[in-house]
Amino acid sequence: MKDQIDNLIQQSKKHTITTKEELENFRLKFLVKKGLVNELFQEFKSLVGEEKKIWGKEVNIAKQKIEAIFNEAQLKLSTDDSSILEEQDLPGYFSNLGSRHPISFVVDEMSLIFERLGFSVATGPEVEDDWHNFSALNFPYNHPARDMQDTFFVGEDIALRTHTSSVQVRLMEKGELPIRSIMPGRVYRNEAISARSNCFFHQVEGLYIDKGVSFSDLKQTLYNFVQEFFGANTRVRFRASYFPFTEPSAEMDIYLGIETESDARLTKGTGWLEILGCGMVDPNVLENCNIDSKEYSGFAFGLGVDRIAMLKYGVKDLRTFFNSDKRFLDQFVNL
Ligand code: DAH
Repeated sequence: MKDQIDNLIQQSKKHTITTKEELENFRLKFLVKKGLVNELFQEFKSLVGEEKKIWGKEVNIAKQKIEAIFNEAQLKLSTDDSSILEEQDLPGYFSNLGSRHPISFVVDEMSLIFERLGFSVATGPEVEDDWHNFSALNFPYNHPARDMQDTFFVGEDIALRTHTSSVQVRLMEKGELPIRSIMPGRVYRNEAISARSNCFFHQVEGLYIDKGVSFSDLKQTLYNFVQEFFGANTRVRFRASYFPFTEPSAEMDIYLGIETESDARLTKGTGWLEILGCGMVDPNVLENCNIDSKEYSGFAFGLGVDRIAMLKYGVKDLRTFFNSDKRFLDQFVNL
């Protein structure tokens, strides 16, 4: 009896089971009614007296071992994709392709327009030091102007940049003149999150430094942009404003009207939507970046991307751009 039991266990261990077919063969050989395990039981039944007692336990252990081999192989095959694929001959999987994010799309569209005007594209770090984000841009230390932008500090004098104007400083410090660049990127402010504002958003900064650059160059560049981006008949207005790094400073609005509900909402009932801040680079800023302000002048602007994207796609709540909901993002697959 012992030989028979050992022999059966050996036989079952020798089987390699790597496919469902081999698994089934194993079952047919050992575990069905006419299989080898049952055959062993039949023989065991013919034993009598003391022998029956001794071998009863062993026969049961052998059965359990063989069943365990079967169960383990079955489990492994059921979690093994390749065998499932082999067996079911499925067609290839199509994983969902991602798409360009609508904000990236708007940034690219803006960039193209400025590139046609001879602007190149530059980028800078999102974690920025005080010098590049504030001091070089003529925000004196402890000056209330810093409160215009609620800052996320990362360390002492290190913060998440509050605007892309910091990249202007980095470009000017390089000292390669003239400069005609746009600088798209993400910026951060510690603001209450709502449908209209978020703790991070996107800007496209612009900077043009050369000899004899004037405010009319600034206006013409921005008019050109607006006509290309929003359409030839778009009305614009400049409003005098204040930024520490430009003098004079202005903000530019485009006219949407208040006919549609969303235009009324976006423009807070005025019909006008502010899309950028701009101005002539303050001579102090040029000097901070080692540019001779007597020889060179320049203009700068900072466009807000997110609100323009809301306008373009009729998005009512800014937050939907960023909560990674595939149902929302799939609508932009063909951009
Ligand atoms: N940095 C300003 C902001 O985030 C926007 C801005 C205004 C940028 C005037 C400029 C500028 O370059 O000249 O509110």
